[in-house]
Amino acid sequence: MTSRNSGAARAGGGAGWDAGLYDRSFGFVAAFGSDMLDLLAPEAGERIVDLGCGTGTLTAAIAERGAEVIGIDGDAAMVERARALHPALAFEHADGRDFAIEGTADAVFSNAALHWMKEEPAQVIACVARALRPGGRFVAEMGAHRNVRIITDALYRALAEEGVPAEAVDFPWYFPRTSRYVALLEEGGFDVVQLHYFARPTPLDDCPNGLADWIAMFGRNFTDAAPPGRAQAVVERTVALTRARLCPDGRWVTDYTRLRFVAVRTAGDETAAV
Ligand code: BEZ
Repeated sequence: MTSRNSGAARAGGGAGWDAGLYDRSFGFVAAFGSDMLDLLAPEAGERIVDLGCGTGTLTAAIAERGAEVIGIDGDAAMVERARALHPALAFEHADGRDFAIEGTADAVFSNAALHWMKEEPAQVIACVARALRPGGRFVAEMGAHRNVRIITDALYRALAEEGVPAEAVDFPWYFPRTSRYVALLEEGGFDVVQLHYFARPTPLDDCPNGLADWIAMFGRNFTDAAPPGRAQAVVERTVALTRARLCPDGRWVTDYTRLRFVAVRTAGDETAAV
């Protein structure tokens, strides 16, 4: 595997994640992704890339099904932990817009990672296409249009109350509309053979402080925009603003929406249908 650029693919250019906390409190990310394995349907002997592999939980599950798997992540701390947890597997630190593998893969898999690769999604798709053999499959789930909208609306409102305009926040994610992402896939040399856009309310059962933990893990671009010394106040206000909708009975459940798809790399010599 080679990368021409080591920028962050997962964390949108931010500093490294707390990979241990990620596994302890956000294990649901991999747990929800496990039914993606059935969609991927890895076969023994296949070569598969796990793009945005995090700490490697699903990479290992793919390997257990007999495939040769390469995990790639843009966050160095995630890759380090993945290597420590799964020493027999191959992990690489590389940018989703600029990775390459030796030879080609039968499939590229990605769970809850493409939305972190917010810059130049067409380049991510181009890299995936280059990594795949013709007929190879791209099987992924990502946050989509309206994902975590209740949370981000509340964060923006809490910041506005502190005098911070929305433009001060470097929005950290790419949550495309279905039509936009399908167009990118088709322009990038894929036929979309399955696609599902759906709401998937996602509980935060392993987060002792509920949404405040989620914001601490994922929402730093918002809290970093708060005036000096006011980040905690922004978190508390966001929690207060969302509690009635996301935690009506004492259990925090976030408002995730997903785009899940299977796309097949075309041979490249097919005439596009108009
Ligand atoms: C997601 O998986 O949709 C997601 C995770 C963290 C932050 C934002 C979205």
